Amino acid sequence: MTGFDSSIPNAVPPAIGVDGAVAAPGAGVSTTYVTSADAVPAGPAWDPGTEHGYDGELAAVLIPAETLQAKITELARAVAADHTYDTPPLLICVLKGAVMFVTDFARALPIPSELEFMAVSSYGSATSSSGVVRILKDLDRDITGRRVIIVEDIIDSGLTLSWLLKNLATRGPAAIDIVALLRKPEAVKVEVDVRYVGFDIPTDFVVGYGLDYNERYRDLPFVGLLGEHMYR
Ligand code: PRP
Repeated sequence: MTGFDSSIPNAVPPAIGVDGAVAAPGAGVSTTYVTSADAVPAGPAWDPGTEHGYDGELAAVLIPAETLQAKITELARAVAADHTYDTPPLLICVLKGAVMFVTDFARALPIPSELEFMAVSSYGSATSSSGVVRILKDLDRDITGRRVIIVEDIIDSGLTLSWLLKNLATRGPAAIDIVALLRKPEAVKVEVDVRYVGFDIPTDFVVGYGLDYNERYRDLPFVGLLGEHMYR
């Protein structure tokens, strides 16, 4: 595997202070740029899906499990370093894709946190969202005065996140930050100010670690490329 040393420091913008307050920048985080050339392809002698019951369905491993976990530790440390509030951050997991990420992220955080879950659905085709979002499951509590951290598995067009940011901002939080494990820069239609991003990835069809195709593959511990024969 090559290419994972191609990190460049991310300029860390101030947290979005809904009340005007701006959090002091902390240790920062580096976004790792992953290209299709970094993918380790399946072959006759090696099939990354076999161990998980997906024989012959994956084309490659794009981000191995250990690389994901190392990045999650880095993200968690950066978030903790930026935490200047009296109460623990409220992690808002956007179901279902972010469920693996939020559980690993919360356990890697060196400060206490609290968890909330939200489920949203964007109208559109199976492979692209329209930006029109419907709440399937709302938060169970008030977020007034809290530092909220939206935990997302992937930013594709950015439409879901853009909508969510506006929606949560109306609820009176002290600040809203976003932690996204993956981002597809070439697919972004709406720029969203994201403070913490794990990996910038190509527009390839990725599955695993929460990401699905027809609800399958979420259970994989790595991010892989789905074989074209599975969706074409
Ligand atoms: C995925 C992902 C993000 C969103 C990103 O969710 O988890 O929430 O799409 O896409 P966007 O940037 O183009 O808006 P999805 O709607 O597939 O639901 P899921 O998390 O339940 O798989």
